[in-house]
Parts: sequence; C-alpha cells; structure tokens
Amino acid sequence: MRGVPAGDRGDSRARAGAGVIALAFHAPGWWRTIASVPWRRARAKPCGEVFLVGAGPGAIDLLTLRAARLIGQADVIVHDRLVSPEILGFARRGAERIYVGKQRANHCLPQEGINALLVRLARAGKRVVRLKGGDPFVFGRGGEEAEACAAAGVPCSVVPGVTAALACAASVGIPLTHRDCARMLTLVTGHTRDGVLDLDFAALARPGQTLAVYMGIATLPALERGLLGEGLDPSTPAALIESGGTDAERVLRGDLRRVVADAPGWVRGGPALLLVGEAVAHGRVAVTLDATAEIGV
Ligand SMILES: C[S@@+](CC[C@H](N)C(=O)[O-])C[C@H]1O[C@@H](n2cnc3c(N)ncnc32)[C@H](O)[C@@H]1O
Repeated sequence: MRGVPAGDRGDSRARAGAGVIALAFHAPGWWRTIASVPWRRARAKPCGEVFLVGAGPGAIDLLTLRAARLIGQADVIVHDRLVSPEILGFARRGAERIYVGKQRANHCLPQEGINALLVRLARAGKRVVRLKGGDPFVFGRGGEEAEACAAAGVPCSVVPGVTAALACAASVGIPLTHRDCARMLTLVTGHTRDGVLDLDFAALARPGQTLAVYMGIATLPALERGLLGEGLDPSTPAALIESGGTDAERVLRGDLRRVVADAPGWVRGGPALLLVGEAVAHGRVAVTLDATAEIGV
C-alpha cells in the first residue's frame, strides 16, 4: 500500500475525528468521553499526505509510472529547479505549483522553510507531491523532509527516481561498474558548507571503483588535489557530463588532470556530474544523442 494516496486506501486516518465521536455514544460513561473530545479535532480537516517523488534527470520517459500517476493526482506540487517543465505538465489542471528553487547558494526557500511548507500543506488536507530532480534520497535532502513529516505526524512516502549518476552514465555509454576494473561505485558530493572539501580521499583514491561526483564543479581542483595526494594516478580516465540525459547533454572526456583543467572554460552552467575511474575508459559504446558535444576524445 506504500505510495498509494490515503484517500485511495480507504484509510481510516481520514475519518478518525468523526470515529471517536461515534464510538463514544456506545461506551459506558459516554458523556464523560464526549466531554473529553475537543470539538476542534472532531471538525478538523483530514490530514493530507506528502509524497517525496524523484523526477529523474529531466527526460519525460525516464520518469517512473508511479511518479507520473502521483503528479497527476496532486493538489500541490512543490518542486525544484532541476524538474523539467514537461514533467510538471503531468499535473492536473488546477493543481497548485510552488517553486522552492535550489541552486548552489541560491535557495529561494531555506530547507527549514520547505520542511515547514510540506507539513503545513498536508495539515491543510492537501495531497502534496514534493518533486525533486533525480532521486529524493540521493543528495536531495529527502531524508530531512521525510523526518520533518514524521516528526509532525504527517504521512509521507517516497518514490525513487533515476539519479544523475545512472542517467548520465547510461546516456553517454559509460559502465559504472565493470568486472575487470570497477567492483565498487561511490557516489560523493563536492558540495561544501564552509568551503573545505572534507572527504575521505584515501578511500576515494583506492583503485577498483568508479567515483560519481555530484555538485563538484566549484571544488574540482580541491578534489583533484585530494585524490592525487592519496596516490590516484592523474591519468585515470574521467568524464564530465553536463545536463546528462537531456537534449542539452554535453560530455568532456579525458584523464582526470585534463578534465579538471578544461572544465572551467567548458561548463555552460547546466548541472554537471564527474565520473572518475578505469571503467570510464570502457565507455566507448555508441552515443546516440545528437546534442552530445565531446572534447578531448
Ligand atoms: C542537489 S543534487 C541533486 C541530485 C539528485 N537528487 C539526483 O539524484 O540526481 C544536484 C546535482 O546533481 C547532479 N545532476 C543532477 N541532474 C544532472 C544532470 N542532468 N546531468 C548531470 N548532473 C546532474 C549535478 O551534480 C547537480 O549539481
């Protein structure tokens, strides 16, 4: 039943207030019971529900069927910058759309405000879809929103989405794992809170893995320094993928040193993901997107 809106389940939660009153008439000492039921609760609107939904990388056909159905049923859609207009087009007519931003250092609503908004909308009886790029639980702060709902007693379900690492790798033909050279895949963020890239570089520099670095453009030089400082070969294959899985997709390939050096003049401001590891060199399968522009091949 997870992922099914409360109204579809015949969920008794929605009728809880009225149910307390009805039972009270049959109970011994019913008048005392009635007196203890606050009228506000008996009349309260049923609580709505929050769905944390992954929108994938942007391409409409990479959205899950469950996500499309829930977007179409939502009263309110609270969405980020990386959610494409085509996907928002699944919303029913009359559904409210609330943009809450999320660009590096430019959140139009701080996270605490988003958490409070979700709770407030659900308490007003709304069916709320919190729509996020990729997957809600991969660098999406979905965990914090789910916790806020739980703390407020608001029902909350999660619908996974295709995360950027999977979408980008598939789109440019790079296998993230490979029996010969990558038995581990590490998802890591290059985002810093205080300007210091505080990562376990010794673990990240270990051979036999592919690194998928999210939000890493601003800290690429620090990432390179950290990895090389722990012994990673600067000639390790790397690829930077911008707007992966969309019509605007571009790829910068080379070795780590070259990709990091070329990146500042290459990026155009779309979301970008860095892949590093020997498996990246196996990514020579056909790329079919016309928009793909490659440098350094
Ligand atoms: C705040 S994180 C959100 C990640 C998202 N929850 C996911 O699962 O993909 C945003 C970062 O994801 C990466 N990203 C998201 N969409 C992307 C895309 N289409 N192409 C490349 N990178 C992308 C970029 O590194 C971007 O800075």
